[in-house]
Amino acid sequence: MASRRVGRWQNACSPKAGKPVSAAPTVAARAAWLKKTLQRHAHAYYVQDAPSLPDADYDTLFCELQNLEEAHPELISSDSPTQRVGATPSPEFAQVRHAVPMLSLNNAMEEAEVTNFDRRVRDGLEREGEAQVEYSAELKFDGLAISLTYEHGLLVQAATRGDGSTGEEVTQNVRTINAIPLRLNTDSPPAVLDVRGEVLMYHADFAKLNARQRAANEKEFVNPRNAAAGALRQLDARITAQRSLRFFAYGVGRFEGGEITKPATHSALLDWYATIGLPVCQERLTGLGEACLTGFFKQIGERRAQLAYDIDGVVYKVNRLAEQERLGFVSRAPRFAIAHKFPAQEMTTTVEAIEVQVGRTGAITPVARLAPVFVGGVTVTNATLHNEDEVRRKDVMIGDTVIVRRAGDVIPEVVAVVAERRPATASAFVMPLACPDCGSPIVKPDGEAIARCTGGWLVCGAQKKGALLHFAARRAMDIEGLGDQLVEQLVDRGIVNHPADLYKLGVSALAELERMAEKSAQNVVAGIEKSKQTTLARFLFGLGIRHVGESTAKDLAQHFGSLEPLIAAGETALLEVNDVGPVVARSLAQFFADPLNLEAVAQLRAAGIHWPEHAPKATSIAGLGALPGLAGKTFVLTGTLPTLSRDAAKEKIETAGGKVAGSVSKKTHYVVAGEEAGSKLAKAIELGVPVLDEAALLQLLNEVSV
Ligand code: IVH
Repeated sequence: MASRRVGRWQNACSPKAGKPVSAAPTVAARAAWLKKTLQRHAHAYYVQDAPSLPDADYDTLFCELQNLEEAHPELISSDSPTQRVGATPSPEFAQVRHAVPMLSLNNAMEEAEVTNFDRRVRDGLEREGEAQVEYSAELKFDGLAISLTYEHGLLVQAATRGDGSTGEEVTQNVRTINAIPLRLNTDSPPAVLDVRGEVLMYHADFAKLNARQRAANEKEFVNPRNAAAGALRQLDARITAQRSLRFFAYGVGRFEGGEITKPATHSALLDWYATIGLPVCQERLTGLGEACLTGFFKQIGERRAQLAYDIDGVVYKVNRLAEQERLGFVSRAPRFAIAHKFPAQEMTTTVEAIEVQVGRTGAITPVARLAPVFVGGVTVTNATLHNEDEVRRKDVMIGDTVIVRRAGDVIPEVVAVVAERRPATASAFVMPLACPDCGSPIVKPDGEAIARCTGGWLVCGAQKKGALLHFAARRAMDIEGLGDQLVEQLVDRGIVNHPADLYKLGVSALAELERMAEKSAQNVVAGIEKSKQTTLARFLFGLGIRHVGESTAKDLAQHFGSLEPLIAAGETALLEVNDVGPVVARSLAQFFADPLNLEAVAQLRAAGIHWPEHAPKATSIAGLGALPGLAGKTFVLTGTLPTLSRDAAKEKIETAGGKVAGSVSKKTHYVVAGEEAGSKLAKAIELGVPVLDEAALLQLLNEVSV
């Protein structure tokens, strides 16, 4: 689907030879059919996210239409899919006066302000006593407001909000946005309709755009909003076309109905929009009173990080348009609507220092120490800078003012430097030559981005702590109560040097540590004891072997069944394991060739760690037991499934013998997509990987289990 994504018009389409002749009725009919068919498939692809035609077939039809139009220019109409890009850059944008002004929204930062809003609305509508108002709640998209004018169903003008009264005419650029219909899909459109909505960029498209910018040595965009704004205000529409913009409709300006009447409610307006081909976000709720609004706020807040695009809050609107009119406006904002904002995900602050952190594999990560800033709902004082190259690329210096972003549970990061606020005293980061923890030399192998401490985990305390925390992690040995602060003390006091030392800890030794009461010490010891009964996969993952993640550990455990044959396996035998390539095979072979590691494993087993063993996979093929039905099949989960949680879906797939991976590649067998599936779904479509919904997944699981 790649060609349709970047814009079909860019594909060369060899014109048919022959001189133009006037279009015979059959030619005109064919052109009309092609237009309609292409529009229908483009709508399925860009608006419904449900491709209905293979890309190559779309291209063939598109070329046919282009050839017909070239031979018969009188057949070209402005709503033809071939006409999405104006060829010549406009010298500047014309000014457009909005017939109905584009207003802004008042903001509520706290629930009390929502209560006040609801009270003002009820007062304004003279609601008696407890009588509730019907509201419509929707997302507050973090993009750019735009007004699209359709005359008799045809898109004739697009304008930015500007100062609310006058905006810029960006029709040519907007015509390149595939999600925006050039003609409304209705036989009886209003004479004039101004559709109000937001242009934005999906995270996945933003990431691709920045990857292209990086590859071209061009400056990266700070966030999807800036990228969308830049794209929309391009003087050359061909550049806009490459930026994959999206659109959601959320309001109306002029409505000169002609035959048809305006819907009576905001929610009905948006439902109608969806039926005439305008993209409308489905994350909406209509309900009575304040409780439904705050419920929506909470629900969306929890899912904000999973959305495919940025939002900065939700918007509440009085649902009945007649009531909206009665309430009217105060200065430049409506009385009938309010934006309930989430905490900002981006803020500016200053870099007080750049220090380095040592990870469990010795990786040295520069970290910006920041003046405390409240962002994404928490106070942030540190942000990762990933590696030295990243510090140079982002040009971060000590003393700089930077934009910090914290989205969802993602670790805070420095997105950009505010260049004009760099003080004369700003100083550059210098990678230290020695590990700040153990003093061993830091080296950066040629061609690698990551510098590493050469001390190894037996020498370097930082690596030791990292290795212990990894060993104890929930997805590894799952030792409850063994957190950062406890590990810090255990290693610093020399009590624990080695994972096996954990199994020698007694309650009294633990109870002497800071912030450790007798009861917590007992809990930790119980947690350690409980972890002794585990699985081979968890144990392998917990060892922290480079390149052996959770999923590879499961593959290894399934393949070998027990530890001894795995330790004995050479690189060649390891390569036979599902999804194990040369890098992983070498890393495993090296790990088990090291006597120190073998000693560590032996000590852990001697401490009582055990797991159920089973015959290796090869034996089961020989007939000792049937292979699970999905053996060797890789799944990727994306979006929210209607009933299954992600963990539940994963468990079901794994029980049936399948594997769940984190990213989509040509090797992925199925992508299971739920609501708000984003880049992974796009990738699946691009690579032609079959996409299942929850029902199809359950059916597949059912089929393989019988
Ligand atoms: S309605 C009369 N609905 O918020 C009401 N605005 O501060 C006009 N926005 O510039 C706006 N999502 O860019 C409305 N669902 C939504 C919105 C939304 C984002 C933006 C819009 C506008 C700003 C108003």
